This record gives sequence, structure tokens and C-alpha cells, in this order.
Amino acid sequence: MPPERPGDSLLAENPFDLSGHAALVTGASSGLGRRFALTLARAGAKVALAARRGDRLADVAREIEAFDGRAFPVILNVTDPVSVRDAVAAAETELGAITILVNNAGVAGAKPMLEQDEADWDRVIDTNLKGAWLVAQEVARHMIRLGHGGSIVNIASILGLRAASQVAAYGASKAGLIHLTRSMAVELARHDIRVNAIAPGYFDTELNHEFLSSTAGQAMLKSIPQRRFGRPEDLDGALLLLASDASAYMTGGVITVDGGHSVGL
Ligand SMILES: NC(=O)c1ccc[n+]([C@@H]2O[C@H](COP(=O)([O-])OP(=O)(O)OC[C@H]3O[C@@H](n4cnc5c(N)ncnc54)[C@H](OP(=O)(O)O)[C@@H]3O)[C@@H](O)[C@H]2O)c1
Repeated sequence: MPPERPGDSLLAENPFDLSGHAALVTGASSGLGRRFALTLARAGAKVALAARRGDRLADVAREIEAFDGRAFPVILNVTDPVSVRDAVAAAETELGAITILVNNAGVAGAKPMLEQDEADWDRVIDTNLKGAWLVAQEVARHMIRLGHGGSIVNIASILGLRAASQVAAYGASKAGLIHLTRSMAVELARHDIRVNAIAPGYFDTELNHEFLSSTAGQAMLKSIPQRRFGRPEDLDGALLLLASDASAYMTGGVITVDGGHSVGL
């Protein structure tokens, strides 16, 4: 028998298995967040489904329970610190220590920068950047207090890496989230908490269905090397990698999932 090398134990098991973990997914009431919740539950995690629309969360919970997964819907407004504290506490009481956070809640808004008013700017920045910070800070405090570490996955965007017109606030919020990912990775590593981001390209969800169906949206397909928009399931691999021990030595990273969109000229 050759001597066992470090990491060999991973080969014997499924490193993407999330049995025994509890996850909190923000923005789980639709689109990518719904898919993230289903994917984590299928991998064995108990999942707290958080957003403002309780009826939609209940639908997702039923989908998870249909394959004997465990789901806990909880109302959350990421822009409200009291709501964040209450939701994280309720999730922990119901499911046990949260070891995975998917910081996914987000809003968009397309307008020329010169026409944006302060309310447009605040809505996007408060949800996508400040909201993500509030939730990550609260969950990280719980992870540190319980001493079990964890993984935080921030859902950024290729618009946080490259600029496009009409989305100044959105792009700034996602660029800020990418840098916040790096800052948190540096500060939280000593607590065994890893922090990474996924930067999706364009996926057809309620967030951008109108734009992607428009002539301008369809024209954009030509600049995507794989010539299609993403499907929520295209994010499964990156999510499971970052949420699980398979990425035990990754922190502060950004994984782009965009059909090659952001590398094209
Ligand atoms: N679709 C894309 O092409 C794309 C590309 C790159 C990145 N993303 C990012 O992916 C994430 C999910 O977007 P999506 O495409 O799945 O859009 P979506 O279907 O519109 O989902 C957005 C989710 O965010 C939640 N949300 C919004 N404001 C919230 C608040 N204040 N508190 C709590 N939850 C809130 C919504 O739930 P409630 O309304 O029920 O609260 C909803 O579940 C966003 O961060 C988005 O920026 C999307």
C-alpha cells in the first residue's frame, strides 16, 4: 500500500456533498436564488430560503420538500438591519448553525447615468452592496461565535468586471461586491470562513427578461462566444465548488460563468 498523501481522503468521498450543512440563500424567491436553493438542497444541505415575498418562498420550499429536502422559508429585507438580524437568528434556531451563505438578493435598473436620480442609485447600492455586507457580517458573526467556520458565496456579475452603458449603479454595486469579497476573505480566513464570488453573465430571469427579449438584448447574443444566454443550472458547478470542501483552499476568488462573454472583444 503506498502511503496516504494529504488530500487522498477527499478522493474516497464526494467533496461536493453538503450533508450536515445548513445554508442561507438570500433572494431565494425567484430566478437564480431559487435554483441555488434547490441545488444546495439536492446536495444534502438544509436550506433557509430568504426574501420579501413569502408566497414565492413557500412555493420553493414545497419543491425542496418534494424530494425530501429540508427547507425553511424566512422573510428578509436585506436593506433593513433588524430584518437581517431576525432572519439569521430564525434560520439558525430552525436549522442549526449556518455554514453556507449565498448572498444573492439583488435588483437592477437600466437608465443613462445622467438621468439616474438619488433614489435609483440608493435602491441598487443599498440592496446589492450594503445589503450583501449586512447579511455577510451578521452570518459571519454567528459563524465565529459558534466556531465552525463556513463558506460565503457572493453573487456578483460580469458588469462588476467590465463596464456597459445604462447600468452605472448596478456595475458599481457589483464591482464593490467583488472588492468586498476580497476584503472579507482577508479578514475572515483566521476564523476558517472562506469568501468567494460568482460573476454570472446574462441569464434570463425576472431581473432582465424584458431586456434580453428586446432587439438590443437579442443583438447582444452575437457578442457571447457560446451564442446563448445562461441557464440557471449553468451555475450549479461553480456554486457547489465554492459552497463545499472541494474549494477548501480557495478564498477571495471570483469565478466567471458567462459563456465567454467577458473575454470577447
Ligand atoms: N439574471 C442575470 O443575468 C444576472 C447576471 C449577473 C448577476 N445576477 C445577480 O443574481 C442575483 C439574482 O438575480 P436574478 O437574475 O435571479 O433576479 P430575480 O429573479 O429578480 O431575483 C432577485 C431576488 O432578489 C430578491 N430581493 C430583491 N431585493 C431584496 C431585498 N431588499 N431583500 C431581500 N431580497 C431581495 C428578490 O426577492 P423578493 O422580491 O421576494 O424580495 C428575488 O428573489 C442578483 O444579485 C443579480 O444581480 C443576475
